[in-house]
Amino acid sequence: MDITIEQVDEGELKAKPDENKLGFGSIFSDHMFVMSYVDGHWQKPVIKKYQNFSLDPAAMVLHYGQAIFEGLKAYRGKDNQIYLFRPKDNLHRMNKSALRMCMPEINVDDVFEGLEELLRLEKEWVPSVSGATLYIRPTMVATEAGLGVRPANQYLFFIILSPVGAYYPEGFNPVTIYVTEKYVRAVPGGVGNAKTAGNYAASIMAAVEAQAQGYTQVLWLDAIERKYVEEVGTMNIFFVIGDEIITPPLSGSILPGLTRDSVLRLTRDWGLDVVERRISIDEIFNAAADGTLREVFGTGTAAVISPVGALSYQGNVCQVNSGKTGELAQRLFDELQEIQFGQRPDPYDWVVKL
Ligand code: COI
Repeated sequence: MDITIEQVDEGELKAKPDENKLGFGSIFSDHMFVMSYVDGHWQKPVIKKYQNFSLDPAAMVLHYGQAIFEGLKAYRGKDNQIYLFRPKDNLHRMNKSALRMCMPEINVDDVFEGLEELLRLEKEWVPSVSGATLYIRPTMVATEAGLGVRPANQYLFFIILSPVGAYYPEGFNPVTIYVTEKYVRAVPGGVGNAKTAGNYAASIMAAVEAQAQGYTQVLWLDAIERKYVEEVGTMNIFFVIGDEIITPPLSGSILPGLTRDSVLRLTRDWGLDVVERRISIDEIFNAAADGTLREVFGTGTAAVISPVGALSYQGNVCQVNSGKTGELAQRLFDELQEIQFGQRPDPYDWVVKL
């Protein structure tokens, strides 16, 4: 791919942050990848200094929300090599989101090459401290100026990089989840399975209310019966009841998470009993009451594997595994991280070395 590279002068590079205090998504590297879409084509991309964009106030993304994004990470192994986890799968998923939002598809191979080029330039930004990574955020927005509601004909695709620690303040410790009945995230036929900005905007109010009550995140139920579990704010969700591992199926209204998919693959290969099926919130609380609910955990790129220590629903709170990290969540976290950081053989071809 032909890319223009405008490298930032040595003297203008940002100071690197303290890797022990990264938090999530508030620090950005020196360069970004930018490519615009005009006249029905993606134009020659440029890697340049991370900087503000100039947008027309009528840019359609600002009014009607044609915006999609992805999240993936670069990992620094103990061997000091940089690894990516299923990067092309993220870019393919972005194309699915693009189709749903009437936005142009990207050429996955070309954009991947651009990402590799960007990462080679920003290698020093991939943290070395345990658990920290470089979060990669490919994004596409509609830039055409216009107030008619229709697909835009100009877009901007960009990739920015952010060194991150754990997504939740709890780190790899159990989070608490509030099950909302008041709000829904997505309806069948809607955009719940697209990674589009509006899904996250719509989730904020429920998250704020959950946090005000002392919970880390919201668990969404289906929009029709408000009975079946869908997903959590920024992750997919798994339950272990007896010997069965259960996650809701990709019904069209939940995000097809790559970590979810990797967990399904790993647990199946370990010979565990794992199913994708509808699971009602009553089944979960009944299992908690009869002592068969063994674990709950979320999966996501940002969240990795996130154990859930308590669930609140209709004023009832159930503790999960006495509020402690379960055995399966721990094993998945360890094995997945070892694959992602290039420390364990990867029989799935998930990992790409930079
Ligand atoms: C990710 O896990 O990468 C996500 O996209 C969640 C994000 C909204 C924090």
